[in-house]
Amino acid sequence: MNVLLIFFSQTGGTEKIAYRIQEGILNSDNDCDMIEMKKADKLNLNKYDLIGIGTPTFYYREPINVKNFIQNLKNDDGKHCFIFCTHGSVIGNTFYYMQEELSEKGYLVIGDFDSYSASSLQFYPEIMHTIKHPDEIELEEALNFGKSICNVSLRIKNGESNLIPIYNLIEDTWWAKQSKTLTLDVLRRIFPKFEINIDRCSKCLTCQENCPTDAIDIEADPPEIQKESCIFCGYCEKACPEGAIEADWKLMRVGSKSNLKLYAQELKKAEEQGKFRPYVDYEKII
Ligand SMILES: Cc1cc2nc3c(=O)[nH]c(=O)nc-3n(C[C@H](O)[C@H](O)[C@H](O)COP(=O)(O)O)c2cc1C
Repeated sequence: MNVLLIFFSQTGGTEKIAYRIQEGILNSDNDCDMIEMKKADKLNLNKYDLIGIGTPTFYYREPINVKNFIQNLKNDDGKHCFIFCTHGSVIGNTFYYMQEELSEKGYLVIGDFDSYSASSLQFYPEIMHTIKHPDEIELEEALNFGKSICNVSLRIKNGESNLIPIYNLIEDTWWAKQSKTLTLDVLRRIFPKFEINIDRCSKCLTCQENCPTDAIDIEADPPEIQKESCIFCGYCEKACPEGAIEADWKLMRVGSKSNLKLYAQELKKAEEQGKFRPYVDYEKII
Protein backbone atom coordinates (compact mmCIF):
# COMPACT_ATOMS: atom_id res chain seq x y z
CA MET A 1 0.00 0.00 0.00
CA ASN A 2 1.21 3.53 -0.77
CA VAL A 3 0.69 5.88 2.18
CA LEU A 4 1.22 9.63 2.55
CA LEU A 5 1.48 11.36 5.92
CA ILE A 6 0.71 15.09 5.94
CA PHE A 7 1.29 16.91 9.20
CA PHE A 8 1.24 20.34 10.77
CA SER A 9 3.53 20.72 13.78
CA GLN A 10 4.85 23.87 15.42
CA THR A 11 6.70 22.63 18.48
CA GLY A 12 7.57 19.15 17.24
CA GLY A 13 5.11 16.94 19.15
CA THR A 14 2.98 15.98 16.15
CA GLU A 15 6.10 15.59 14.03
CA LYS A 16 7.56 13.07 16.52
CA ILE A 17 4.37 11.05 16.36
CA ALA A 18 4.30 11.29 12.55
CA TYR A 19 7.82 9.81 12.33
CA ARG A 20 6.83 6.87 14.54
CA ILE A 21 3.67 6.19 12.57
CA GLN A 22 5.75 6.28 9.38
CA GLU A 23 8.24 3.82 10.89
CA GLY A 24 5.38 1.48 11.78
CA ILE A 25 3.90 1.68 8.28
CA LEU A 26 7.32 0.95 6.71
CA ASN A 27 7.82 -1.96 9.14
CA SER A 28 4.54 -3.45 7.93
CA ASP A 29 5.97 -3.66 4.38
CA ASN A 30 4.12 -0.68 3.00
CA ASP A 31 5.48 2.52 1.44
CA CYS A 32 5.10 5.76 3.30
CA ASP A 33 6.02 9.31 2.24
CA MET A 34 5.75 12.21 4.64
CA ILE A 35 5.32 15.95 4.07
CA GLU A 36 4.62 19.09 6.06
CA MET A 37 1.15 20.46 5.48
CA LYS A 38 2.38 23.84 4.21
CA LYS A 39 4.25 22.12 1.36
CA ALA A 40 1.44 19.71 0.54
CA ASP A 41 -1.25 21.95 -0.93
CA LYS A 42 -0.42 21.31 -4.58
CA LEU A 43 0.40 17.64 -4.16
CA ASN A 44 -1.20 15.02 -6.36
CA LEU A 45 -2.74 12.50 -3.97
CA ASN A 46 -3.84 10.11 -6.71
CA LYS A 47 -0.89 7.77 -6.32
CA TYR A 48 -1.64 7.17 -2.63
CA ASP A 49 -4.03 4.52 -1.32
CA LEU A 50 -4.13 5.91 2.20
CA ILE A 51 -3.59 9.44 3.56
CA GLY A 52 -2.74 10.29 7.18
CA ILE A 53 -3.37 13.83 8.43
CA GLY A 54 -1.74 14.98 11.67
CA THR A 55 -2.29 18.11 13.72
CA PRO A 56 -2.08 19.65 17.17
CA THR A 57 -5.29 20.64 18.94
CA PHE A 58 -5.79 24.41 19.13
CA TYR A 59 -8.66 25.78 21.19
CA TYR A 60 -10.27 22.33 21.58
CA ARG A 61 -10.38 21.51 17.86
CA GLU A 62 -8.15 21.38 14.78
CA PRO A 63 -6.35 24.66 13.98
CA ILE A 64 -7.91 26.84 11.29
CA ASN A 65 -5.04 26.28 8.84
CA VAL A 66 -5.69 22.52 9.08
CA LYS A 67 -9.41 23.05 8.56
CA ASN A 68 -8.62 25.18 5.48
CA PHE A 69 -6.21 22.56 4.18
CA ILE A 70 -8.88 19.85 4.36
CA GLN A 71 -11.47 22.12 2.78
CA ASN A 72 -9.11 22.77 -0.14
CA LEU A 73 -8.49 19.08 -0.81
CA LYS A 74 -9.81 17.77 -4.12
CA ASN A 75 -12.89 15.58 -3.73
CA ASP A 76 -11.79 11.98 -3.57
CA ASP A 77 -14.62 9.55 -3.48
CA GLY A 78 -14.13 6.98 -0.76
CA LYS A 79 -10.35 7.37 -0.38
CA HIS A 80 -9.22 6.01 2.97
CA CYS A 81 -7.52 8.31 5.43
CA PHE A 82 -6.61 8.34 9.11
CA ILE A 83 -6.16 11.24 11.49
CA PHE A 84 -3.69 11.82 14.31
CA CYS A 85 -3.26 14.53 16.87
CA THR A 86 -1.15 15.73 19.77
CA HIS A 87 -2.63 17.86 22.49
CA GLY A 88 -2.27 19.16 26.02
CA SER A 89 -4.97 18.24 28.53
CA VAL A 90 -8.04 18.31 26.27
CA ILE A 91 -8.21 17.00 22.71
CA GLY A 92 -11.77 18.32 22.55
CA ASN A 93 -13.69 17.81 19.32
CA THR A 94 -10.58 17.70 17.09
CA PHE A 95 -11.34 14.30 15.57
CA TYR A 96 -15.07 14.98 15.25
CA TYR A 97 -14.52 18.10 13.13
CA MET A 98 -11.72 16.58 11.05
CA GLN A 99 -13.84 13.56 10.25
CA GLU A 100 -16.80 15.76 9.36
CA GLU A 101 -14.68 17.94 7.02
CA LEU A 102 -12.91 14.97 5.45
CA SER A 103 -16.15 13.16 4.79
CA GLU A 104 -17.49 16.28 3.05
CA LYS A 105 -14.50 15.93 0.68
CA GLY A 106 -15.33 12.27 0.05
CA TYR A 107 -12.68 10.77 2.35
CA LEU A 108 -13.43 7.88 4.69
CA VAL A 109 -11.69 8.13 8.08
CA ILE A 110 -10.67 4.59 9.03
CA GLY A 111 -8.69 5.23 12.21
CA ASP A 112 -7.11 7.73 14.53
CA PHE A 113 -4.28 8.12 16.98
CA ASP A 114 -3.73 10.73 19.66
CA SER A 115 -1.07 11.49 22.21
CA TYR A 116 -0.45 13.96 24.98
CA SER A 117 2.36 16.36 24.21
CA ALA A 118 4.14 19.11 26.08
CA SER A 119 2.21 22.30 25.50
CA SER A 120 3.57 25.78 25.73
CA LEU A 121 1.42 28.85 25.60
CA GLN A 122 2.50 32.35 26.47
CA PHE A 123 -0.45 32.82 28.80
CA TYR A 124 0.67 29.76 30.81
CA PRO A 125 4.30 30.52 31.64
CA GLU A 126 4.48 27.72 34.22
CA ILE A 127 5.70 24.21 33.34
CA MET A 128 2.65 22.54 31.89
CA HIS A 129 1.12 19.28 33.08
CA THR A 130 1.93 17.36 29.94
CA ILE A 131 5.67 17.93 30.06
CA LYS A 132 7.81 14.99 28.78
CA HIS A 133 5.04 13.76 26.50
CA PRO A 134 4.87 12.07 24.10
CA ASP A 135 6.69 9.59 26.31
CA GLU A 136 8.23 6.25 25.32
CA ILE A 137 4.91 4.47 25.79
CA GLU A 138 3.05 6.88 23.49
CA LEU A 139 5.83 6.66 20.89
CA GLU A 140 5.59 2.86 21.00
CA GLU A 141 1.80 3.13 20.63
CA ALA A 142 2.28 5.36 17.59
CA LEU A 143 4.64 2.78 16.08
CA ASN A 144 2.10 0.02 16.65
CA PHE A 145 -0.68 2.16 15.20
CA GLY A 146 1.47 2.59 12.07
CA LYS A 147 2.09 -1.15 11.89
CA SER A 148 -1.62 -1.92 11.94
CA ILE A 149 -3.32 0.87 9.97
CA CYS A 150 -2.78 -0.50 6.44
CA ASN A 151 -4.28 -3.79 7.51
CA VAL A 152 -7.30 -1.96 8.94
CA SER A 153 -7.74 -0.25 5.57
CA LEU A 154 -7.59 -3.60 3.74
CA ARG A 155 -10.09 -5.20 6.11
CA ILE A 156 -12.54 -2.32 5.66
CA LYS A 157 -12.13 -2.60 1.87
CA ASN A 158 -12.92 -6.29 2.26
CA GLY A 159 -16.22 -5.53 3.98
CA GLU A 160 -15.49 -5.14 7.70
CA SER A 161 -17.37 -1.85 7.95
CA ASN A 162 -17.71 -2.29 11.72
CA LEU A 163 -14.07 -1.15 11.95
CA ILE A 164 -14.96 2.36 10.74
CA PRO A 165 -14.78 4.69 13.76
CA ILE A 166 -17.71 6.91 14.72
CA TYR A 167 -17.09 10.37 16.19
CA ASN A 168 -19.64 12.24 18.26
CA LEU A 169 -19.70 15.97 18.86
CA ILE A 170 -19.27 16.66 22.58
CA GLU A 171 -21.18 19.71 23.72
CA ASP A 172 -21.92 19.37 27.41
CA THR A 173 -18.54 19.91 29.04
CA TRP A 174 -16.79 23.04 30.35
CA TRP A 175 -14.30 22.94 27.49
CA ALA A 176 -17.01 22.48 24.85
CA LYS A 177 -18.68 25.62 26.19
CA GLN A 178 -15.37 27.51 26.08
CA SER A 179 -14.74 26.20 22.60
CA LYS A 180 -18.07 27.56 21.38
CA THR A 181 -17.28 31.02 22.63
CA LEU A 182 -13.67 31.08 21.36
CA THR A 183 -14.52 32.17 17.84
CA LEU A 184 -12.00 34.05 15.71
CA ASP A 185 -13.81 37.31 16.49
CA VAL A 186 -13.47 36.70 20.20
CA LEU A 187 -9.80 35.73 19.85
CA ARG A 188 -9.25 38.96 17.92
CA ARG A 189 -10.68 40.87 20.85
CA ILE A 190 -8.94 39.06 23.72
CA PHE A 191 -5.53 38.38 22.22
CA PRO A 192 -2.92 41.07 22.92
CA LYS A 193 -1.70 43.12 19.98
CA PHE A 194 1.68 41.92 18.78
CA GLU A 195 4.29 44.59 18.13
CA ILE A 196 7.56 44.28 16.23
CA ASN A 197 10.50 45.95 17.90
CA ILE A 198 12.22 47.25 14.76
CA ASP A 199 15.52 47.83 16.58
CA ARG A 200 15.78 44.16 17.49
CA CYS A 201 14.32 42.62 14.35
CA SER A 202 17.08 41.25 12.09
CA LYS A 203 14.62 40.34 9.31
CA CYS A 204 15.71 36.72 9.58
CA LEU A 205 12.15 35.77 8.48
CA THR A 206 11.80 33.02 11.12
CA CYS A 207 8.40 34.38 12.17
CA GLN A 208 7.16 34.78 8.60
CA GLU A 209 8.30 31.36 7.45
CA ASN A 210 6.77 29.62 10.47
CA CYS A 211 3.45 31.42 10.39
CA PRO A 212 0.87 28.75 9.48
CA THR A 213 -1.39 31.21 7.66
CA ASP A 214 1.04 33.68 6.05
CA ALA A 215 -0.19 36.43 8.35
CA ILE A 216 3.20 38.16 8.55
CA ASP A 217 5.02 40.36 6.04
CA ILE A 218 8.22 41.38 7.73
CA GLU A 219 9.62 43.13 4.64
CA ALA A 220 6.63 45.46 4.26
CA ASP A 221 7.16 49.03 5.39
CA PRO A 222 6.19 49.13 8.20
CA PRO A 223 6.39 45.33 8.81
CA GLU A 224 2.99 43.66 9.08
CA ILE A 225 2.07 41.13 11.74
CA GLN A 226 -1.26 39.56 12.74
CA LYS A 227 -2.82 40.23 9.34
CA GLU A 228 -6.47 39.23 8.84
CA SER A 229 -5.52 35.55 8.44
CA CYS A 230 -3.86 35.32 11.91
CA ILE A 231 -5.21 32.31 13.83
CA PHE A 232 -3.80 33.34 17.21
CA CYS A 233 -1.38 30.50 17.75
CA GLY A 234 1.20 32.97 19.10
CA TYR A 235 4.04 31.02 17.56
CA CYS A 236 5.77 34.02 15.95
CA GLU A 237 6.50 35.53 19.34
CA LYS A 238 7.93 32.25 20.64
CA ALA A 239 9.95 31.57 17.49
CA CYS A 240 11.67 34.95 17.11
CA PRO A 241 15.35 34.39 17.95
CA GLU A 242 15.85 38.11 18.76
CA GLY A 243 12.81 38.46 21.02
CA ALA A 244 11.69 41.22 18.67
CA ILE A 245 7.97 40.37 18.81
CA GLU A 246 6.35 41.70 21.90
CA ALA A 247 2.93 41.25 23.43
CA ASP A 248 1.43 42.03 26.80
CA TRP A 249 -0.05 38.78 28.15
CA LYS A 250 -1.16 40.13 31.55
CA LEU A 251 -4.90 40.24 30.84
CA MET A 252 -5.03 36.92 29.07
CA ARG A 253 -3.08 35.30 31.84
CA VAL A 254 -5.58 36.46 34.46
CA GLY A 255 -8.47 35.14 32.37
CA SER A 256 -6.91 31.78 31.69
CA LYS A 257 -5.47 30.92 35.09
CA SER A 258 -8.65 29.21 36.32
CA ASN A 259 -8.31 26.77 33.44
CA LEU A 260 -5.24 25.18 35.01
CA LYS A 261 -7.38 23.52 37.68
CA LEU A 262 -9.76 22.22 35.04
CA TYR A 263 -6.85 20.84 32.99
CA ALA A 264 -5.52 19.03 36.04
CA GLN A 265 -8.96 17.51 36.67
CA GLU A 266 -9.11 16.18 33.10
CA LEU A 267 -5.64 14.71 33.43
CA LYS A 268 -6.43 13.07 36.77
CA LYS A 269 -9.44 11.38 35.12
CA ALA A 270 -7.22 10.23 32.24
CA GLU A 271 -4.62 9.00 34.72
CA GLU A 272 -7.25 6.90 36.49
CA GLN A 273 -8.17 5.36 33.14
CA GLY A 274 -4.50 4.56 32.46
CA LYS A 275 -4.34 7.03 29.55
CA PHE A 276 -2.01 9.61 31.08
CA ARG A 277 1.22 9.48 33.08
CA PRO A 278 2.15 12.68 34.93
CA TYR A 279 5.83 13.66 35.12
CA VAL A 280 5.18 16.72 37.25
CA ASP A 281 3.22 17.26 40.44
CA TYR A 282 -0.18 18.77 39.49
CA GLU A 283 -0.27 20.76 42.71
CA LYS A 284 2.92 22.56 41.75
CA ILE A 285 1.17 24.02 38.71
CA ILE A 286 -2.29 24.95 39.97
C1 LIG B 1 -2.87 28.33 20.30
C2 LIG B 1 -2.84 27.00 20.98
C3 LIG B 1 -4.02 26.44 21.45
C4 LIG B 1 -3.99 25.20 22.09
N1 LIG B 1 -5.17 24.64 22.50
C5 LIG B 1 -5.15 23.43 23.08
C6 LIG B 1 -6.37 22.80 23.47
O1 LIG B 1 -7.46 23.31 23.27
N2 LIG B 1 -6.31 21.59 24.07
C7 LIG B 1 -5.11 20.97 24.29
O2 LIG B 1 -5.12 19.88 24.83
N3 LIG B 1 -3.95 21.52 23.91
C8 LIG B 1 -3.94 22.72 23.31
N4 LIG B 1 -2.77 23.28 22.90
C9 LIG B 1 -1.51 22.53 23.06
C10 LIG B 1 -1.12 21.83 21.77
O3 LIG B 1 -2.19 21.09 21.25
C11 LIG B 1 0.02 20.85 22.02
O4 LIG B 1 1.09 21.53 22.59
C12 LIG B 1 0.45 20.17 20.74
O5 LIG B 1 1.11 18.99 21.08
C13 LIG B 1 1.37 21.01 19.88
O6 LIG B 1 1.72 20.26 18.75
P1 LIG B 1 3.09 20.50 17.96
O7 LIG B 1 4.22 20.29 18.97
O8 LIG B 1 3.10 19.46 16.93
O9 LIG B 1 3.06 21.87 17.43
C14 LIG B 1 -2.76 24.52 22.27
C15 LIG B 1 -1.57 25.09 21.80
C16 LIG B 1 -1.61 26.32 21.15
C17 LIG B 1 -0.33 26.90 20.65
